[in-house]
Amino acid sequence: MIIHSSPKRSVRILILGGRGVGKTSLILSLVSEEFLEDVPPKAEEITIPAEITPELVPTNIVDYSALELSEDQLQDELHRAHVVCLVYSVIDEDSLAAITNYWIPLIRGTLPLVKMPIVLVGNKADLINYSTTDAALNIMSTYPEVESFIECSAKTLHNISEMFYYAQKAVLHPMAPIYMPEKQD
Ligand code: GTP
Ligand code: MG
Repeated sequence: MIIHSSPKRSVRILILGGRGVGKTSLILSLVSEEFLEDVPPKAEEITIPAEITPELVPTNIVDYSALELSEDQLQDELHRAHVVCLVYSVIDEDSLAAITNYWIPLIRGTLPLVKMPIVLVGNKADLINYSTTDAALNIMSTYPEVESFIECSAKTLHNISEMFYYAQKAVLHPMAPIYMPEKQD
């Protein structure tokens, strides 16, 4: 008898990042295909049926809100997630600095034995006419768990579906092994 290792049957995406970077707007723009000016602090968990995802795998999207989730709940969500979309705002340097000062250390600290795939997301690209790609590439070269980078806008819907596709892809076709035994000490 041949036993095939089972492929992932679902993808659970956690949207993380600082206050006001547009996490909730990104999720609601994807779902409603329009930008909503008034969004709640935290979107309800959303399940996208397999048929309408590019990789044909049911996908859950989980929003994070510092107002609504305790540190324990965030740790719990990190344990349940298959991939993290780590969002900064391209007009907020502090939110970009927090990616390496706060969020990646938090993810690594919570999951020391797991290489959690990360999609780095620069949101609010409609507000600038330059790019933050150089900074993002620096982050990617320093932190191998950052699988991909995308600039997008929840407001114009630019690159929104692509962002969620990158997240699915990071889980289903990762670039590197997920388990890092050398990280155990
Ligand atoms: P918290 O839940 O407080 O952590 O914030 P959040 O990351 O969920 O951000 P939210 O979606 O609430 O958006 C914050 C503000 O940025 C709102 O006023 C949004 O309308 C605005 N915003 C979000 N995305 C974009 C975007 O792509 N472009 C522009 N111009 N504004 C945006
Ligand atoms: Mg929010």
